[in-house]
Amino acid sequence: MTVTTTSRIIHPAGNLKGELIPPPDKSITHRAVIFASLASGPSRVVRPLIADDCERTAEAFRSLGVSMETDRRGDWIILGKGMNGLERPAESVYCGNSGTTMRLLTGVLSGQPFEVTLMGDASLSRRPMDRVVLPVRQMGAQVRAQDNKFAPLVIQGKRPLDAMEWKTPVASAQVKSCVLLAGLYADGVTVVEEPYQSRDHTERMMSAAGIQLDIQGTRVGIRGGQSLQPREWVVPSDLSSAAFFIVASLLLPGSEVLLRNVGVNPTRDGLLEVMQQMGVLIKRNDQRVIGGEPIADLLVTHSPLKSVKIEPEIMPRLIDEIPIIAVAATQAEGITEIRGAQELRVKESDRLAHCTTELRKMGAHIEERPDGLVIEGPTPLIGATVNSFEDHRMAMSLAVAGLIARGETVIQNADCVDISFPTFWDDLEKLRNRVV
Ligand code: S3P
Repeated sequence: MTVTTTSRIIHPAGNLKGELIPPPDKSITHRAVIFASLASGPSRVVRPLIADDCERTAEAFRSLGVSMETDRRGDWIILGKGMNGLERPAESVYCGNSGTTMRLLTGVLSGQPFEVTLMGDASLSRRPMDRVVLPVRQMGAQVRAQDNKFAPLVIQGKRPLDAMEWKTPVASAQVKSCVLLAGLYADGVTVVEEPYQSRDHTERMMSAAGIQLDIQGTRVGIRGGQSLQPREWVVPSDLSSAAFFIVASLLLPGSEVLLRNVGVNPTRDGLLEVMQQMGVLIKRNDQRVIGGEPIADLLVTHSPLKSVKIEPEIMPRLIDEIPIIAVAATQAEGITEIRGAQELRVKESDRLAHCTTELRKMGAHIEERPDGLVIEGPTPLIGATVNSFEDHRMAMSLAVAGLIARGETVIQNADCVDISFPTFWDDLEKLRNRVV
């Protein structure tokens, strides 16, 4: 067994009990930084996600001349430079592991009158960027990419950009947001249309910052020349991070956990719908709206699960939750089928391949399909040495598998949880009771 300094050993848990405020939402923090940087004047981001991915977006805008400070409460105060105030950075911009940083910045930089190079880590440099390069090229930006598809991206913006209509073949909030951001710099109405509705934080937050959008189903139109207004952004807790504690609590007998302040935006809550189809009701207490986003406290208690069929239509609403749903499915009665999930192959790692190989090492009955997974349950899991492949959501999903397994599980490359959930191991320790 190889245990390195970046490995974590997971012991089986008795149950999880208590309350947790999961970390702030990653998608909303990225957007708050971008919109605040482009607004004229000071904005405050209340409870930003302080984790590697969002730090990359903050650092990118610092290098574009935006000043940011952290106040005593940990909020970020961002002094926006206005739509036309960004400056050419001295060096290339490093986006780390963050697809959201690279793809949304591509939209912003397409409208700037200077050239910038965007770099990524090994994982990000393998992910497809043609999905954002093609639309901004059509709008008149010049973009060079490795093999026309991969980072580094060298972007020479144009102002104004040419307004256009873009039909994206993938339902992707990152593509939609890139086009809408570029659309702010275009000479007319830019329209983006996607096959299924992806998360709509950009639309909600742009509207809250004074931008008029024309939303018709999965088509969104934006008129160029509008300005984002500075404001206070309050970031709810991230349902995609809460997901690990939701599934762990469902699977461990005797568990009862209250997850507070969790964003339950209907374009993100597919996990809760799937859990309902698996026979579980997760109670949404104290439902409210903060900063245009629906929030609730989620009460999760242990429950038996039955298998489910997950179809392509719902995929954008739970795209980041498939690895943890796969763990849940190993314990569900019957055959779970997940279809239309080919996008998982181009996330931080190939999550369909890695869910299959790693959960199999733990005894799961799981098969990989070109666009999904087939999982037969319930199967008792056995501790094993498994690899996250430096993918944060794989590391946390495997940790949950380790909690329900017999014996010890070693997760290699476990530090990557810092990408979205730096307090994950501490929070797990706080809520778990050991097997006695
Ligand atoms: C995100 C959108 C999703 C998601 C990612 C964050 C965003 O990606 O997987 O973790 O913040 O817009 P796609 O929109 O590319 O599917």
